[in-house]
Amino acid sequence: MDEKLKQIKQTLEKYGQEQLLDEYNRLTSEDQKQDFLDSLLTIDFNQVKTLYEKSKEEPTFVNSKIEPIEYVDKAKLSKEEFKELKEIGTKEIKAGKLAVVTMAGGQGTRLGHTGPKGTFDLGLDTHKSIFEILTDILVKARKEYETDIPWYIMTSDENNEATVKFFEKNDYFGYPKSCVTFFKQGKLPMISTEGKILIDEKHKIKEAADGHGGIFHSMLKEGIVYDMKAREIEWVFIGGVDNVLVKPVDPILIGLSVKSKVLAAGKSIVKANPKEKVGVFCKRNGRPSVIEYSEITPEMAEERDESGELKYGESHILCNLFSLKAIEKVSQMNLPYHIAFKKAKYIDKDGNLVKPESPNAYKFEAFLFDAFESLDSLAILRVKREEEFAPVKNAEGVDSPETARKLYKDFHSKK
Ligand code: UTP
Repeated sequence: MDEKLKQIKQTLEKYGQEQLLDEYNRLTSEDQKQDFLDSLLTIDFNQVKTLYEKSKEEPTFVNSKIEPIEYVDKAKLSKEEFKELKEIGTKEIKAGKLAVVTMAGGQGTRLGHTGPKGTFDLGLDTHKSIFEILTDILVKARKEYETDIPWYIMTSDENNEATVKFFEKNDYFGYPKSCVTFFKQGKLPMISTEGKILIDEKHKIKEAADGHGGIFHSMLKEGIVYDMKAREIEWVFIGGVDNVLVKPVDPILIGLSVKSKVLAAGKSIVKANPKEKVGVFCKRNGRPSVIEYSEITPEMAEERDESGELKYGESHILCNLFSLKAIEKVSQMNLPYHIAFKKAKYIDKDGNLVKPESPNAYKFEAFLFDAFESLDSLAILRVKREEEFAPVKNAEGVDSPETARKLYKDFHSKK
């Protein structure tokens, strides 16, 4: 027997994943067989085993001491404070110390658009796509600060090609192509409730993007950290693709980070009401963190301070600034994986495609904000929802194209 096949068989037996050989045996061409074996060699079976074991554990939120975290309200800065922060931040931007990373590797399942979420037409009179809207912001900043701002776009295996093609077809919407770099995020196998790795409809290992927290590893692995160092970047704004009011080039956020001598910062908006399903900034065992809505008790969610504000009211909106030093540090660490139970089509042991009606598979994702706990401090800047947060998440209702379009139009008509 072929040595490679023999070795792989042993590994599959060791980890109880022999069902993968059913697929191998069904393949007819030698090339397909070799490709399949090669893809098996990229899997960390021990990690898959550990992740499966974790899926059986009850989530534990106990043993951590949660406390409110300090923040700076941008609207309450005095004229002098504002001026000072703006000057510090502007100096950094003009000196070419800022890079922007847009995380566009998500599947956008809730929106249900075919193709990368960034290619979605927001429905403005101009029919601009989300990517064009984001590019407009950078084109304007490049002019204002008279500097090239390197833009890195994180894609996934699934949407990388379509994303790059979209930018090529549209001449990068007027942003210099030399300033734009695409890189792919990592992926992990999806497994059944019995811990078995699934096969997808293309007869390959069923894999899914490893969550936005995978960004740090990917930046290191794909040479982005190296590239940033070579360009003498010091600050990196990291945001999601789906906020059409994102402000990635913000001298106040940079100024605040420099002045407070922190390695990272995050923007917050006031939680709309105690029951809103958002994660909020907090301190966990004395360290900066985000507590998710599924984790916070109803009592804590209702707690208010002397001035009547929610004690846990600073919503995390995935608009964060990291020093390159912080990125380097986090990229060497292993962030925890969170488990999602999803509907996933797969090929069964007889080679038939199964399209489940309800969730059937585990997907593993790292969350970017889990990186905060490894940093000693985090500056938080509270900004206004109507100025900086218009998410496109759902096909309709809250956080949909309709609500984002309205926020976008209202904001731009006021300028
Ligand atoms: P979401 O958590 O909203 O996920 O991502 P999503 O994939 O866009 O949408 P749903 O949940 O399937 O409907 C927040 C941001 O993080 C990026 C997304 O592209 C979005 O900008 N992201 C998410 C990644 O880049 N990679 C991931 O693995 C997950």
